[in-house]
Amino acid sequence: MSSTAQIGVTGLAVMGRNLARNFARNGYTVALHNRTAARTHELVEHFGDEGDFIATESAEDFVAALERPRRLVVMVKAGEATDAVIAEFAPLLESGDMIIDGGNAHFADTRRRERELREQGIHFVGTGVSGGEEGALNGPSIMPGGSKESYESLGPMLEKISAKAKDGAPCVTHIGPDGAGHYVKMVHNGIEYADMQLIGEAYQLLRDVAGYSAEEIAGIFRTWNTGRLDSYLIEITADVLSHVDAATGKPFVDVVVDQAEQKGTGRWTVQIALDLGVPVSGIAEAVFARSVSGHADLREASRHLAGPTARKLGTDEAAAFADQVEQALYASKIVSYTQGFHEIAAGSEEYDWNVDLGKVASIWRGGCIIRAAFLDRITSAYEAQPQLPSLLSDKSFAEEIAAAQDDWRSVIATAVTQGVPTPAFAATLAYYDSLRAERLPAALTQGQRDYFGAHTYRRVDRDGVFHTLWGGDKTEVES
Ligand SMILES: NC(=O)c1ccc[n+]([C@@H]2O[C@H](COP(=O)([O-])OP(=O)(O)OC[C@H]3O[C@@H](n4cnc5c(N)ncnc54)[C@H](OP(=O)(O)O)[C@@H]3O)[C@@H](O)[C@H]2O)c1
Repeated sequence: MSSTAQIGVTGLAVMGRNLARNFARNGYTVALHNRTAARTHELVEHFGDEGDFIATESAEDFVAALERPRRLVVMVKAGEATDAVIAEFAPLLESGDMIIDGGNAHFADTRRRERELREQGIHFVGTGVSGGEEGALNGPSIMPGGSKESYESLGPMLEKISAKAKDGAPCVTHIGPDGAGHYVKMVHNGIEYADMQLIGEAYQLLRDVAGYSAEEIAGIFRTWNTGRLDSYLIEITADVLSHVDAATGKPFVDVVVDQAEQKGTGRWTVQIALDLGVPVSGIAEAVFARSVSGHADLREASRHLAGPTARKLGTDEAAAFADQVEQALYASKIVSYTQGFHEIAAGSEEYDWNVDLGKVASIWRGGCIIRAAFLDRITSAYEAQPQLPSLLSDKSFAEEIAAAQDDWRSVIATAVTQGVPTPAFAATLAYYDSLRAERLPAALTQGQRDYFGAHTYRRVDRDGVFHTLWGGDKTEVES
């Protein structure tokens, strides 16, 4: 077999198949492999005319089809399957070859795999790919980690197949060493959870408080999509809301079971945030909200738990309320991105990745699920001040929240008094108020900890670590 393929893809389910087609459509010769050979043949049968494919059935033939250094993309089910594929292919590779894992791996697994393969001289490139099957085919946002050297060889190809932002820039950059790419993809998904939950809360308020129909709410989202909330998720929300179920003639959203599923990256984002001590309350509430929705057993309580029923507003009031909800959604969105970027900064610091936060925002402008006009603003904020401690330290974001906050508070107050759950709206506002507060009740917490566990505390008026003899005469001792 002649080694003419510039890239190979193993794992040809929906993502791998579309990624392979994307490479081929961009002029690369693509070697194909899948555990079950039928998928490989199906691809060639249906899409073989889109470019140059080399279909292979054995691992040996697949590797032999690749020009050196070999670039081998793995798009299999994340977890054990990835380890199985690496175990199968790594012995056939040589120093300088690259294994690119485009699955949704946990970054800790990526760090382990990278370390193990580095010993063999193989570059392991853990790569976040966002955009679902449509993105994989027409241009995803791509977040590769791994060595700089691997990016030199791989980068130009990824730039070619990636989405392009409105200014034409490719939505890919070398994120950083080892697991940095998968880590950033994980936080991307966490932010996506928050975005979706906030949109859901806005929808529920417009439905239950403003009294709008699904079609009317779709119209409101369409209007919002022409302003500062312009984003893929707002756009598809309008489409989903205006879709009518063919079987019943009802709005589609009213016939779908209200239990949201999740695959794990949102949960990981929260778990890692807890490990690193990063407050990502908006993202966490979004993950918990899906979890609550799925607990049909707990939600049996809807039959007997008392509380107010939301009051529907009149037409003029409803329109004014919708404007307020837009302000609340925007303010909460800024806070959830602030939290997500904090988590990326913390990971970068912990693992010494040197991630360029502004660049991360810029490669999310196209291809990925959270693509939005708003991301340009985040890039500008970090370009102006790379060491920005938080997005809320950026003057223009702080000013926008200042302008939105009366409505933000009012919407959440309405939700609370009318019994409409808005966990992510409320958590992001509480985070904002926590950052604003001159004194937090943490001083009391420290007192309690010192009381029951002699955990000590620091004082505002002098240096040192202190303990009060609570069980005795309450004198203070320096420890
Ligand atoms: N779907 C999305 O929107 C999306 C977006 C971004 C990233 N991803 C990630 O991309 C990857 C691929 O996703 P997907 O939805 O296309 O497929 P998937 O359903 O996650 O995985 C199916 C693929 O994995 C292969 N596979 C499973 N176990 C294997 C094993 N032990 N050894 C070798 N191959 C094995 C299957 O081969 P057989 O055909 O032989 O069963 C098939 O090619 C996943 O890691 C996913 O998390 C998905």
